[in-house]
Amino acid sequence: MKPLAIIGGTGIDELEGLEVLSEHRVETPFGAISRPIQEGRLGSTTLYFLQRHGSPDAIPPHRINYRANIWALKSLGVAGIVAINSVGGITASMRPGRLLIPDQVIDYTWGREHTFDEGEQGTLMHIDFTEPYDGALRRALLAAANSAGIPHDASGVHGVTQGPRLETAAEIRRLARDGCDVVGMTGMPEAALAREAGVPYASICMVVNPAAGLGDQPLTLAMMRDILASESAVVRQLLSELLKHR
Ligand code: HPA
Repeated sequence: MKPLAIIGGTGIDELEGLEVLSEHRVETPFGAISRPIQEGRLGSTTLYFLQRHGSPDAIPPHRINYRANIWALKSLGVAGIVAINSVGGITASMRPGRLLIPDQVIDYTWGREHTFDEGEQGTLMHIDFTEPYDGALRRALLAAANSAGIPHDASGVHGVTQGPRLETAAEIRRLARDGCDVVGMTGMPEAALAREAGVPYASICMVVNPAAGLGDQPLTLAMMRDILASESAVVRQLLSELLKHR
């Protein structure tokens, strides 16, 4: 079976427990990937790991080369991509510490290189994006969360904003009216590019703060990092359970 790829976000610089076997510095027609892609073993399974923000230099959400990253993972022949996104919580159940496996996305980003379609293929890439996340991969994540006893929400709408600034309270009220349950900055165009590339893609959203205007404290990176530290351990547990069944 072909390996899965994990795209890590803020707070997941390394995949703990991953025995790195090699690093792939993939050249792409779209420029540089965020960081060399690690190939390694977690338990008895081989997987690829890419940190989308790079390191040690943090690439902000609007400057990530999403096209290069997805193209490179496809070129390695991955069976699918599990993306990890840290998000702010909008609906009441989306409190810091909560995990969401979203089933829908609303894209508020702008000005990002969001398609592989440069108008040169002779056909237009009107991909079907009705269901933005891969059904089978989502079901596998949900089964893994259930069998590991990890509390989570099994569906919800992931709103993706441009960043890097956080939102205003009014913007969050608008996202809530639009039906968004959580808000992040890196879910798009990554998901759409994976669909264009024909690579199954699903996301795990980690709620790290109440979205703007919904909490009782000013939003700080330190507050988010505290939650991230404990929540990323749960995400690792979820990934190990997912990989056990492959
Ligand atoms: N808004 C947007 N992106 C985020 C947030 C947020 O509140 N928290 C973590 N990523």
